[in-house]
Amino acid sequence: MNVVLLGAPGAGKGTQAAVLTKELGVVHVASGDLFRKALSENTELGLLAKSYMEKGDLVPDEVTIEMVLERIRKPDCDSGVLFDGFPRTLSQAKALDEKLASESRQIDKAVYIEVPEEALIKRLSGRWICRECQTPYHAESSPPKVTGRCDVCGGELYQRADDTEETVRERLKVFFSQTLPIVEYYETQGKLLRVDGNQDINEVSAAITRLLRTESA
Ligand code: AP5
Ligand code: MG
Ligand code: ZN
Repeated sequence: MNVVLLGAPGAGKGTQAAVLTKELGVVHVASGDLFRKALSENTELGLLAKSYMEKGDLVPDEVTIEMVLERIRKPDCDSGVLFDGFPRTLSQAKALDEKLASESRQIDKAVYIEVPEEALIKRLSGRWICRECQTPYHAESSPPKVTGRCDVCGGELYQRADDTEETVRERLKVFFSQTLPIVEYYETQGKLLRVDGNQDINEVSAAITRLLRTESA
């Protein structure tokens, strides 16, 4: 099964991916995580991505598409992928569909996690991320067991440079103008599932799993 997680910055894509990959037995492929990994390794790709990410803008389609398609060529992706943060533009969505179709695969469902704007800003300003495995935490809604340390791997927690209020506002603007059209794209294909993301983390997980089970039954 191949699933796309759609949602504004802070909607909970990374948070839900951590639960869903286990439930569905698929691999988590997050374009933002791939860019941050490249950046931590100081690669050319990382440095290029940084110049866009720090402003809250999208990294150019060409570069992003190539990076993600290369990632899903790896054999661990054969049993299914949970896409997080990709696709984010219509060209990315079409490129992904074409690539999967050429291998007789397809996107089965796109889950749109909907959260009101004020809640998104609050979530991102209290977010902490693991430097090693990128698991997200929140100072109030999902604190780690040990302050500053990841529950999963013990890695150090940090705050993302693009989680400042100014950059968050730009990321939201970019989401509504460039990414929202792909919600309609998947809706037209009959693949869209909408989930209320403004409830407790485990309620959102339960809602998504329930929908995916009924829809694919
Ligand atoms: P990316 O890393 O994809 O960031 P994003 O889309 O802005 O989304 P976030 O990771 O900020 O939010 P999330 O939905 O994962 O929320 P989370 O689960 O962490 O992209 C970063 C940048 O990379 C982009 O701006 C762009 O420059 C570039 N990029 C990436 N992909 C690209 C692409 N395809 N094309 C071009 N450029 C690309 O949760 C947020 C917080 O809320 C956490 O603290 C969490 O604990 C908390 N929380 C989660 N759920 C709940 C809940 N139900 N209740 C209360 N708190 C909650
Ligand atoms: Mg994320
Ligand atoms: Zn970790």
